[in-house]
Amino acid sequence: MNNILNISLKGLLSAILFLLSFSISYSQKKSSNDSIDYKVESLLKKMTLEEKVGQMNQYNGFWDVTGPTPKEGNAKQKYEHLKKGLVGSVLNVEGTTNVRKLQEIVVKESRLGIPLLFGFDVIHGHKTLSPIPLGESASWDLAAIEKSARAAAVEASAVGINWTFAPMVDISRDARWGRVMEGAGEDPYLGSKIGIARVHGFQGEDLSAPTSIVACAKHFAGYGFVEAGREYNSVDVGTSTLYNIILPSFKAAVDNGVGTVMNAFNILNGVPSTGNKFLLREILKSKWGFKGFVVSDWGSIGEMVDHGFAKNIKETAEIAANAGSDMDMESYAYITYLKQLVEEGKVDAKVIDDAVRRILRIKFKLGLFDNPYKYCDTKREQEIINHPDRASVLEMAKKSIVLLKNENNLLPLNINQQNIAVIGSLANDKNSPLGNWRFGAKDSSAISFLEGLNKYTTNYKYAKGTDLTTGKTVFPLELNINETDTSQFAEAVNLAKNSGVVLMVLGEHGFQSGEGRSRTKLGLPGVQQQLLEAVYKVNKNIVLVLMNGRPLALPWAAEHVPSIVEAWQLGTETGDAIAQVLFGDYNPSGKLPITFPRSVGQCPIFYNHYHTGRASAKSKDEVFYSHYTDESVSPLYPFGYGLSYTKFQYSNLTIDASDAMHIKVKATITNTGKREGEEVAQLYIHQKVASVVRPVKELKGFQKFSLSPNESKEITFTLTDAELGFYNNEGKYVVEPGEFDVMIGTNSQEGLMGTFTRK
Ligand code: BGC
Repeated sequence: MNNILNISLKGLLSAILFLLSFSISYSQKKSSNDSIDYKVESLLKKMTLEEKVGQMNQYNGFWDVTGPTPKEGNAKQKYEHLKKGLVGSVLNVEGTTNVRKLQEIVVKESRLGIPLLFGFDVIHGHKTLSPIPLGESASWDLAAIEKSARAAAVEASAVGINWTFAPMVDISRDARWGRVMEGAGEDPYLGSKIGIARVHGFQGEDLSAPTSIVACAKHFAGYGFVEAGREYNSVDVGTSTLYNIILPSFKAAVDNGVGTVMNAFNILNGVPSTGNKFLLREILKSKWGFKGFVVSDWGSIGEMVDHGFAKNIKETAEIAANAGSDMDMESYAYITYLKQLVEEGKVDAKVIDDAVRRILRIKFKLGLFDNPYKYCDTKREQEIINHPDRASVLEMAKKSIVLLKNENNLLPLNINQQNIAVIGSLANDKNSPLGNWRFGAKDSSAISFLEGLNKYTTNYKYAKGTDLTTGKTVFPLELNINETDTSQFAEAVNLAKNSGVVLMVLGEHGFQSGEGRSRTKLGLPGVQQQLLEAVYKVNKNIVLVLMNGRPLALPWAAEHVPSIVEAWQLGTETGDAIAQVLFGDYNPSGKLPITFPRSVGQCPIFYNHYHTGRASAKSKDEVFYSHYTDESVSPLYPFGYGLSYTKFQYSNLTIDASDAMHIKVKATITNTGKREGEEVAQLYIHQKVASVVRPVKELKGFQKFSLSPNESKEITFTLTDAELGFYNNEGKYVVEPGEFDVMIGTNSQEGLMGTFTRK
């Protein structure tokens, strides 16, 4: 009794302490927000209209640190604008010396000395590169992804950057679109969780910390749905897709404090995203209560003329500002016309004040008014650059690898394996595995596949077999893929003939995905497929290591090649990460965050599609059902798919739906193989009948855990209204009672099925 009393007294005391500390930290936060608001208002009162518009203006910085680069026509004007306080932010300037020089111009020479924001595309690391975001997403490891964004922020902040244009939270279902490499794949649930992890990683606990940088959820909205996967193309989607697939990852970022949001280049249902009042004012700023600011995409304000939405640049400024775009990236529309538009009564002064408030608030939150040079510590710059956290980057790279096939346990390789042949020019490439979006990193700074292999064995022979590219490949303006030259095949085939195992490293060049890199072909580029088949003719013992920035369609390889390892573009530590997986020092645990098609004709292909009225044939000769006459409708590898060197068995699905607010779904997972391994157990639901038809499956939970051989674990998922509802066609979140299918499984196609009724 005494004990119980003791425990409950203790409990009470700690509850009081908790509440007290909560209320103290809450009130501290509140008062610091209040005082920021107060400072913003006081500053705003001192600003002229011209200075306000200046804050809404962002320039690309390509001038020399000593002054404008003479060869740039408008650099002189930009320099003058800096001195007059007519620039709120610059992008693409890095290095503490450069950043300090520019910051000094505005702080010392402009009337109010409002510090600049320095934006940069820190997408997957800065100097030290993590895997491309799609690769990282294959880890399904939120803590690791957050850590990776944190490491990127530490490096970027050390070189003067205080704002990253990431994460890209565009959901995309189309492998043809080059920018799938930059996102988290096809699923809004996984994409939201990963987006949140990245926002937290970049921004840290407190934006004013010296290693925090502001994040930017982009591209709002719909950019991942460009028609036919063609970059910058139009987007026309229905309300259900907009509310349930496209918007949730943005809302999740906003709910988790993302400081900024970027517009998209595309029109969405006839209205450019940049001038889209419904998206920006109604949804983002009003419904979701977003307090940060919206930056346009590069030149996207001006492009409204090309879209046929505005007569001229002046009108684009009017439309974009009124719609809620707060900062103009490189259209020169705001700085040229906004003041005049206010004077003419076409843009309300309140619109300008609202935008400037938002921008200043971020600058105050970063602590730039207390110390505009806080990101300009040259000693810290040296320290961080010279001692990068490569161990974490390596860990992230290993976690990103997905084992797609492993017949007869060809992998892992035995360390004493004799007669290894290595084939493929990507094996000896230190540049391509860095992937796209790596402006801060040194070219050719990746550990190549061969360099990683060397740490395990030198008992191998290498033949390129083919050059993936010819000519210039460093910065990607011209990327010449070798489409014809097979002159090196013979050497590779000869080598393979006399080898025990052949490691073939094939795939895309790092610059074949990314912005402006849409493709209509999803096979192995150039003559690599031919090479693969030529080698297979003489030696079937092939481990195919794939490097690519998007799903590839490789039905031949999937059928014939015994082992396939998906290694994306893994960044700086590429070679070491792959070698550790090939030799079994790391047991792969990645799962695909995006569906791999069998052929381009299937695109867009994704797991969470709807039922058709004619899903299957009623008889052998049936024609009038939903199918292709020349291709299966199933994917090559489904969403959520990935193997391990061990095996996991799923059993004992139990469902308790007695409490409608907390439906519990459990399963037991057992490691039935011989190695310790990590599994990602995935939970999918499907509401059988609803007022808006529901997808055949929707991911609503996942858990990643490690099991030793013979070890079992019971996992529990709790489904609440947050998982069971959906947005109806009015954009309202509804939960409708009814019957649900539920599945817990190892990927989106295989698992234990059950049903329950949500009362
Ligand atoms: C891209 C953005 C990027 C911006 C600045 C644009 O072309 O679409 O994602 O942040 O350039 O580099």
